[in-house]
Amino acid sequence: MLSFDPFAVLADEHAVLTQLFARHQAALVTRAWARAARLLDSHRKRLAQHIELEEHYLLPYCPREKLPNQWPARVYSAEHQRIQELASKLNLRFAKLRRRGVTTTTLIALLDEEKTLKHILGHHHAREETALFVNLSQALSETQRDELAQALRHPPHCRPMVPVSARAGATPRYPGS
Ligand SMILES: [Fe+2]
Ligand SMILES: [Fe+2]
Repeated sequence: MLSFDPFAVLADEHAVLTQLFARHQAALVTRAWARAARLLDSHRKRLAQHIELEEHYLLPYCPREKLPNQWPARVYSAEHQRIQELASKLNLRFAKLRRRGVTTTTLIALLDEEKTLKHILGHHHAREETALFVNLSQALSETQRDELAQALRHPPHCRPMVPVSARAGATPRYPGS
């Protein structure tokens, strides 16, 4: 039987998010505004769920300080906040543009703004896949890993806000952290 690897699922989520955004931009350039708006909103919501899960099930187990190829939770949290702000801003901006009527000039300006989000997301996902997921796949206890797997299998409203192992004051296995 194939084992469920929560970190592979999280990395797959990154790919799904990238595809969703690419489909949104494809809809934009063909001027399919309603479809572009739906896809942008799906991207924002899925991104928010993904971030919520990482914040609750991964970041409590990050080292407190910077270590070689490891970053503290505050670095990931700051990126999450910036990414979510940009995603919300884009949704609002596009809705406003649609109400006023999208022109070629405003469409180009929107695509420029989207480039910033794509750039930051690309860096963020790469950092998680090469550092956070790799380190935590070794550092998490079996219980912590099971909690993450359970969270990935269940819809967000069924998840506890704080993982059981974090509530119990579990110590991350980071020497020197
Ligand atoms: Fe993240
Ligand atoms: Fe992520």
